[in-house]
Amino acid sequence: MSSPSNRDTSATLAYHEATKHSERSLRASRHFLDWENQPRAFKIYRDLEAIPLPQRFPDNELPALEAISPAVAAPAADGDGEQVPDLAALSRILYLSAGITKRKHYPGGETLFRAYPNTGGLHHIDLYLVAGDLPGLSAGVYHFGPHDFALRRLRDGDYRAALVEASGRSPDLVRSPVIIASVSTYWRNAWKYQARAYRHCFWDGGTLHANLLAVTGSDQFAPRLVMGFEDRAVERLLGLDPAKEGAIALVALGRSEREAPPAPAVPELRLATEPLSRTEIDFPAIRAQHAASSLEESAEAGTWRGNTPPRKDPAPTGSLHPLRPLAQSEVPRETLEAVIRRRGSTRAFDRARSLSFEELSTVLDRATRGVPSDFLDPPGTSLVDLYLIVHAVEGLAPGAYYYRRSERSLELLREGSFRREAGRLGLGQELPADAAVNVYSLANLSPLLARFGNRGYRAAQLEGGITGGRLYLAAYAQRFGASGLTFFDDEVTAFFSPHAAGKSVMFLVALGYPDRIALGLKT
Ligand SMILES: Cc1cc2nc3c(=O)[nH]c(=O)nc-3n(C[C@H](O)[C@H](O)[C@H](O)COP(=O)(O)O)c2cc1C
Repeated sequence: MSSPSNRDTSATLAYHEATKHSERSLRASRHFLDWENQPRAFKIYRDLEAIPLPQRFPDNELPALEAISPAVAAPAADGDGEQVPDLAALSRILYLSAGITKRKHYPGGETLFRAYPNTGGLHHIDLYLVAGDLPGLSAGVYHFGPHDFALRRLRDGDYRAALVEASGRSPDLVRSPVIIASVSTYWRNAWKYQARAYRHCFWDGGTLHANLLAVTGSDQFAPRLVMGFEDRAVERLLGLDPAKEGAIALVALGRSEREAPPAPAVPELRLATEPLSRTEIDFPAIRAQHAASSLEESAEAGTWRGNTPPRKDPAPTGSLHPLRPLAQSEVPRETLEAVIRRRGSTRAFDRARSLSFEELSTVLDRATRGVPSDFLDPPGTSLVDLYLIVHAVEGLAPGAYYYRRSERSLELLREGSFRREAGRLGLGQELPADAAVNVYSLANLSPLLARFGNRGYRAAQLEGGITGGRLYLAAYAQRFGASGLTFFDDEVTAFFSPHAAGKSVMFLVALGYPDRIALGLKT
């Protein structure tokens, strides 16, 4: 059965159009940042006891570049062994996905940085665990609080079956000992970005999931991302306020011998939380797009997944440049944990330093190895296409390129030095003009919306964000830098057209070596 709202895809087209950046939209905007009313970046429950997480957790020696995109694993077949994370393993997963990795003091305050990059440093994504009995943690529904690195129990008991039911019995969830749910509290981002914040749920959720999938995949918990679920059921289980918060995705981890037992009844939760700011502004366009892309019944969730629309690259018209990623013996040995702790968005790029073609190849190779998810079937398919503006890569003429995913090759679309244009496309900022390369994720929304309804938009934005998060990790693992960026939507499509005609921009990352002098790292 199909929900009328998810099928009426005019909603997505209207939301996307209304939240595009253009010269005109920026000029017409009277939005200003009300610093007195800035929302806090944490959800603080008033009355729940903190369950501290262990601060020490196991290491994984695998080099980050090997860990970023572990092979997409099919769900384990019946009879395979158990794979159950304990509290220390969960602690590592939560820290490296969403924990506080750095603190910078300045006169009058402190800025907290997290494991994942995110728009405006506003950190509007929270993680929840829905667990059976695990070593060190009793069955329950928990919220992860990065501010004090602790869990809080929202419900006592094994509620995993409620998620299995909400997903229309997703085969990924049925044997999972623990499921991680991600949620945006819209106001925490909309304070700055207004209605565009709904896109950021999936951008920032995406970079967070890039970390989460890398950590859990390389720790052998075979993560599977699930986006097909009845929204109301998930919101109710987690005690969310549907007017203000939306669930982004579920990640099934590990494997139990037995299926989860039937869930207890799910009474409404009314848990007091600290106000985010003095007042909150409602953005009806966010609520409307979330409702339009919601699945209303578990049966609808059951038929939502799989059958990804096939995609085919048009015949090449320009020169082809097959990737030359680093050989395994050349891969830097730094671990994923060290890279995530060290990562931070590059605030100035050095125009004088090029990337090698091997460095760029390695980044692209690691970012495009497939996302284990219920909307990408067969595994390894994709909803997004990568387009690049190359400014400074040794052995590659400056110009516009298209990444031919199945052939792992860059196709030259247009040769030329486009620093000025790239700066303009990135809202006139210096970062995209000074970087060595800009990598854009674009999606052809028509077939996606036809197959997945409005929820296909969530999936494409999320895959764009995961790809962006992986680009970041692969850049830092090779000791250069990256920054996410925002953009003038239609101008990007026009720049890459006719090849990109009809496609919509989902995400942008600039890559290059940091300008150490501008950043005060060297005189
Ligand atoms: C999707 C995305 C878009 C971003 N857009 C911009 C941008 O337009 N300009 C900018 O200077 N930084 C941008 N950033 C960088 C963020 O400001 C930065 O990630 C955030 O402040 C957190 O800092 P960290 O990445 O060092 O942890 C973006 C980051 C992401 C993930």
